Amino acid sequence: MKEEKRSTSGRTMLGGLFFIAGLIVALIVGWVVFPKVLYSQKTQPMNFSHAAHEDSACEDCHYFLPDGSYSGTPGIENCRQCHEEPMTDSEQERILVEEYIQKDREIPWLVYGWQPDNVYFSHAPHQAAELECVQCHRDVTADEEKLPILYENRWTGYSKSTMKMVECEKCHAERGASNACQTCHK
Ligand code: HEC
Ligand code: HEC
Ligand code: HEC
Ligand code: HEC
Ligand code: HEC
Repeated sequence: MKEEKRSTSGRTMLGGLFFIAGLIVALIVGWVVFPKVLYSQKTQPMNFSHAAHEDSACEDCHYFLPDGSYSGTPGIENCRQCHEEPMTDSEQERILVEEYIQKDREIPWLVYGWQPDNVYFSHAPHQAAELECVQCHRDVTADEEKLPILYENRWTGYSKSTMKMVECEKCHAERGASNACQTCHK
């Protein structure tokens, strides 16, 4: 009798150990493996440095079009003004000149703040409300050595730094802007 009891409790203890081991594996998968599997890592076509262009004004490259929409990232005609011929021996500039400017190809920049098609976003009302770029974007003036990696969600195609609906709504609530669904979903 005694023998039997001991082996049952031994089995319970073993079961407990398996449970804890399983839990640890699940936590590692959830916290470490799953996010790595969920996001694919994309890098920009070249390492553009905002710091190297600090003599230019932001508006030389990012400005409003007559219809109120934002120009977004500049096209190669902008870059050509100064980079028709290489002026440094930088490998990144060589890529710009040889792969894009000389071949007349636009640079396929990745947009970190990318929003899905069902969201309506415009810079104009936000500029009018005098918001800073860094309230919604990374700080490009903080001497970046390398452009950040873009983490793209494999299921949704969202960039990890896509602003979430709750973040838009939080600021709208704080500043008295509309949170009616059709404000952002037209
Ligand atoms: C010579 C042209 C040039 C100038 C000047 C310039 N930018 Fe840019 N900007 C770019 C290019 C090219 C990209 C795309 C690569 C990247 O994300 O850095 C970009 C990207 C950005 C983005 C990222 C948007 C996103 O979500 O992907 C922000 C924010 C930005 N610029 C802000 C600024 C600000 C603020 C200034 C002035 C301090 C500025 N830029 C000056 C060319 C320029
Ligand atoms: C008004 C002139 C001007 C314009 C317009 C301009 N650049 Fe430049 N760019 C420069 C100068 C000057 C440098 C050299 C900075 C240094 O290293 O001293 C430079 C350097 C670079 C480099 C090499 C940086 C490094 O450290 O390796 C790259 C890449 C580059 N530019 C990309 C671009 C792209 C892309 C555009 C268009 C979106 C652009 N530039 C538009 C003036 C310009
Ligand atoms: C209220 C938040 C907010 C502010 C403030 C803001 N942006 Fe954006 N920006 C966004 C969002 C959201 C996107 C993505 C838009 C999309 O995918 O349709 C974006 C996209 C961009 C892009 C890439 C657009 C493209 O299509 O290539 C650039 C460049 C950019 N912003 C620059 C700036 C600059 C420069 C400032 C400051 C003058 C600024 N933004 C202020 C939210 C903001
Ligand atoms: C940091 C604050 C802030 C953030 C973040 C923000 N907004 Fe706004 N938004 C404002 C303000 C302020 C206004 C201007 C309201 C006005 O003019 O009455 C505005 C106006 C708008 C308008 C125009 C509203 C109208 O009635 O015409 C749209 C559309 C909009 N925002 C969409 C978005 C979306 C989409 C996001 C998230 C991707 C976002 N906003 C994030 C502050 C913000
Ligand atoms: C201030 C802007 C804003 C307002 C107001 C807003 N949304 Fe959104 N909504 C977004 C943004 C940005 C996204 C995409 C990012 C995300 O999924 O969080 C989104 C995503 C969604 C999605 C998920 C779609 C997908 O592809 O994942 C649904 C559903 C949605 N909104 C419904 C609503 C409804 C219903 C309302 C009104 C009660 C509303 N939204 C009001 C900005 C807004």
